[in-house]
Amino acid sequence: MMTIIGSGNMAKAMISPLKDSYDIEVVARDPAVLARLKEQYRTIKTTTIDGYIDIDGKDVLLATKQQAVGSLKFKGVANVLYSVLAGTTIESLRQNIKAQNYIRVMPNVSAKYQKSMTTLTGDVSAKASAVKLFDNIGQTIWVTSEDLLDIATAIAGSGPAYLATVAQGLIDGGVRCGLSLAQSRQLVAGLFDGFSPLVAQNDPQNIKDEVTSPHGTTAAGCEVLQQYDIQECMAQTVATAYDRAKAIKDENKIKKGQI
Ligand SMILES: NC(=O)c1ccc[n+]([C@@H]2O[C@H](COP(=O)([O-])OP(=O)(O)OC[C@H]3O[C@@H](n4cnc5c(N)ncnc54)[C@H](OP(=O)(O)O)[C@@H]3O)[C@@H](O)[C@H]2O)c1
Repeated sequence: MMTIIGSGNMAKAMISPLKDSYDIEVVARDPAVLARLKEQYRTIKTTTIDGYIDIDGKDVLLATKQQAVGSLKFKGVANVLYSVLAGTTIESLRQNIKAQNYIRVMPNVSAKYQKSMTTLTGDVSAKASAVKLFDNIGQTIWVTSEDLLDIATAIAGSGPAYLATVAQGLIDGGVRCGLSLAQSRQLVAGLFDGFSPLVAQNDPQNIKDEVTSPHGTTAAGCEVLQQYDIQECMAQTVATAYDRAKAIKDENKIKKGQI
């Protein structure tokens, strides 16, 4: 039995790919949302939160907002607690929810298309089951500390916003030169789709070299990218997001009186 707590975007993204391999129970506070889920996925069990949530011996996927951790009440000891909550440390989960094993999970918004790039960390004894579970919504990478998870989050968690900025710029460029908005969007979507296997199997510098001929169109375009130092800008973007993750952790510690 996989008990998913929460019925928002992330919980919903997990139900469809998991429902054939796992017995799913969704525990959430809105009965109307639960009724709709039950109608859509007839085999799942739904439970409205009313007092204590029974997690004893279960694999539990926590997919609520962060503030729920302190306010929800749990009964028993979970087998594995998987938490997708951004910025909620294993230490904080341990203080509020009892489990044999704790795993922190950082999926991204592409989970809704089963294309999440998901980072995992936590108790090594639950690593294999965690990887198997989250491979259902895309790709997974295991890291050995929560600090590394924060760095990974700065790339793959926040990354859709960075790439959306790139996509918007390319679309605008196409329209500026005379394409319709629909054509420009279709081109950019196809570009991103085809780029995925390229970047997985080739060094980015080699991709650039392969596409760029002397005095050609790509060379002219890349000159503008160099003029604005876009490569350094992207590296700095990731480093700044990681710094922010560390600062948020300190702010939370100050709030709890731990610093
Ligand atoms: N979406 C992403 O791409 C993404 C990526 C990485 C991590 N995450 C993490 O995933 C978690 C869920 O995100 P989401 O996008 O699924 O958010 P969401 O769509 O807003 O859903 C949040 C869920 O949490 C429930 N909830 C909030 N406060 C609660 C409380 N005090 N007690 C019980 N339930 C409560 C909500 O219940 P109601 O419907 O009753 O309000 C809802 O079911 C967040 O912690 C976020 O950090 C999300």
